[in-house]
Amino acid sequence: MLSARAKALRPSLTLAIAAKAKQLKAEGRDICSLSAGEPDFETPAFIRAAAAAALEAGHTRYGPAAGEPALRQAIAAKLSGENLVPTKVDQVLVTNGGKQALYNLFQVLLEPGDSLLLPAPYWLSYPDMARLAGASVTTIPCGADQGFHLDAAALEAAITPASKLLVLNSPGNPTGAVLSRQELENIAAVLRRHPQLAVVCDEIYEYLVAPGHQHHSLAALAPDLADRIFIVGGCAKGWAMTGWRIGWLAGNSAVVAAAIALQSQSTSNVCSFAQYGALAAVQGPRDCVREMAARFDLRREQLCQGLLKLPGVSLQPPEGAFYAFPDLSAYGLDSMTLCNRLLDQVGLAVVPGVAFGEDRCIRLSCAAATEAIDDGLERLRGFLASL
Ligand SMILES: Cc1ncc(COP(=O)(O)O)c(C=O)c1O
Repeated sequence: MLSARAKALRPSLTLAIAAKAKQLKAEGRDICSLSAGEPDFETPAFIRAAAAAALEAGHTRYGPAAGEPALRQAIAAKLSGENLVPTKVDQVLVTNGGKQALYNLFQVLLEPGDSLLLPAPYWLSYPDMARLAGASVTTIPCGADQGFHLDAAALEAAITPASKLLVLNSPGNPTGAVLSRQELENIAAVLRRHPQLAVVCDEIYEYLVAPGHQHHSLAALAPDLADRIFIVGGCAKGWAMTGWRIGWLAGNSAVVAAAIALQSQSTSNVCSFAQYGALAAVQGPRDCVREMAARFDLRREQLCQGLLKLPGVSLQPPEGAFYAFPDLSAYGLDSMTLCNRLLDQVGLAVVPGVAFGEDRCIRLSCAAATEAIDDGLERLRGFLASL
C-alpha cells in the first residue's frame, strides 16, 4: 500500500532513542539520557507570558500561512541587524521549527536528477528530506582529522552539474564544528565558480558557540550570492523553545513564496499564539540566550574533560552546539551495537554515529544537568572498562 517514497523513509533515530530511554525510565529502569537534542532549561518567563497574553487576547484563529506579519518583520529585522544579512519581510517564512523550513526548502528546490551536497558527519534529517524530494545525496567527508570542517577544495571536487544545493550547518550537529570567517569566504569563492549551486545555512545553533569561536552568516560575507543563500533558524535551541515549533526560512523571495505556497497547502500557519511568544523572544534582549549559552559552555567543557580522561576515546573538541562526538572505534564495536549495549547494560542513552554518517563515533548531549553528565560519564567509563 505504501508509496516507494514512504518505504524508503527511516524514522528519526534520535527521536526514537530518546523515546526508548523515556519508556525504560517509565518502566522503572535507572536510565541516564544524554541523547536529547534539546535544552533542559524552561523557556524564559517573558516569552511564556507573551504567548499566554496572546492566547487570552484571542490569537486563536487561522493566520496567514507565511506567519504573523509582526513576527516576519521581527525576524527580518533580526537577520538584518544581528546577522548582517539585509532581509525584507517577503523573504521570511515562519515554519513549524527549523525542520519544516528545511523540508519546505528541499521540496521547492530539489527534484529527481538533482543532488544534495552534504558535508559528513551531518544532522540525520537532511538525507531523508532530500530523498523525499526525489534528489540523491552526495556526502563530502569532513573527518575528525580535519576538525569536522568542510574544506573548500573538497567541496569543489565534489561538485557536478547535478549539484543543486549545499548544506552548511554551523555550529554543527553532531560535531559542534563552527566554520570560521575565512573558511566561509573560501566556500563563497567556490560558489562563485558554480552558479547553479544554492546553499542552505542551517544556523539553528547560532547562539551556542564556545569561547574563542564566532558565528558568521555566509550571506553577510558574500552579499553578491544572497539570491542563492538560504538561512534556516529558529527559537528551539537558543531560547529553549523546542516544543513551541517555531522556525524560519529566509532568502530569495521567489523561492520563499513557493515555500509559503507549499505550507499553505500542507500545515498552514504555525500555532498563532506560539508565534506571539516567538515575537517576544526575537524582539527581546538576548540576556536569557547568553545566560543559557554560558551554562552550555560549562557543561560542554565538563563533558569533554570527562571524555578525554577515558582510555581509547579520542575527541575533536566541539566548538559550539551542545554535543560531543567522540571516536570510540578503538573498542571494535559498530556505533549501533555500542549504543544498544550502553543502554541495556548500564542504562546510558546516547546516539550512534552511524545515524550521522560516522560509524566510529557516538553523540553525547550536554543539554542535561551537570549531575547527569557526570553520571553518564561514569556509566560510560564502567562500560568501556568491562569490554
Ligand atoms: C542541525 C539541526 N537543524 C535543525 C533542527 C530542527 O530544529 P527545530 O526543533 O527548530 O525543528 C535541529 C534539531 O535538532 C538540528 O539539530
